[in-house]
Amino acid sequence: MKKNILVGVCAGISSYKTCELVRLLVKNNFSVKVIMTENSTKFVTPLVFQSLTQCPVYLDTFGLSDCGSIKHISLAKWAHACVIAPLSANSLSKIAQGLCDNLLTTVVCALPKNTKVLLIPAMNENMWNNPIVGENIRKLEKIKKYIILPPQKGELACGDSGQGRMPQPGEIYTTLKSITK
Ligand SMILES: Cc1cc2nc3c(=O)[nH]c(=O)nc-3n(C[C@H](O)[C@H](O)[C@H](O)COP(=O)(O)O)c2cc1C
Repeated sequence: MKKNILVGVCAGISSYKTCELVRLLVKNNFSVKVIMTENSTKFVTPLVFQSLTQCPVYLDTFGLSDCGSIKHISLAKWAHACVIAPLSANSLSKIAQGLCDNLLTTVVCALPKNTKVLLIPAMNENMWNNPIVGENIRKLEKIKKYIILPPQKGELACGDSGQGRMPQPGEIYTTLKSITK
């Protein structure tokens, strides 16, 4: 059976790698729908994801849907699994607090209990080492549905070097595949 994957995209420099992740998923016969935060559209345009998935990209909680369904509920029910890559420090804190102030955070909150969410945080090392970010990660790690792939060490887009890099799309794909088995 074809698996349905919701891909959430936050406003981080590594969102260019999410294009390749989406391409890999589509190529390997997953059905993919992409939800972008408004800020993330400043990094990669919705047109890129729309072209890769041949589906509309979801941005807005309140926009009318084609079939009259309530978007955040129908998307949450549609998904067999969800991956958020990159997950910004900002959206991480919102999810950890249960905030629902945009389509992505609202869908995450509305996902059924057994739907797994693979979180791919990526940020500058100082952000990653911020104790509040650490607290949010630990809080989500305690909840079974969240699986966190920690950022890797190396050169960061801002020119610093340290832990913060988003893993390569192939690694994220392999983890996602094992979750959806
Ligand atoms: C050039 C640039 C790169 C950024 N990269 C990151 C990043 O990699 N990780 C992160 O957590 N925030 C990053 N930010 C900050 C986020 O874009 C900002 O916190 C934003 O409000 C997140 O919005 P969202 O969570 O709604 O997507 C970056 C900002 C800029 C201007």
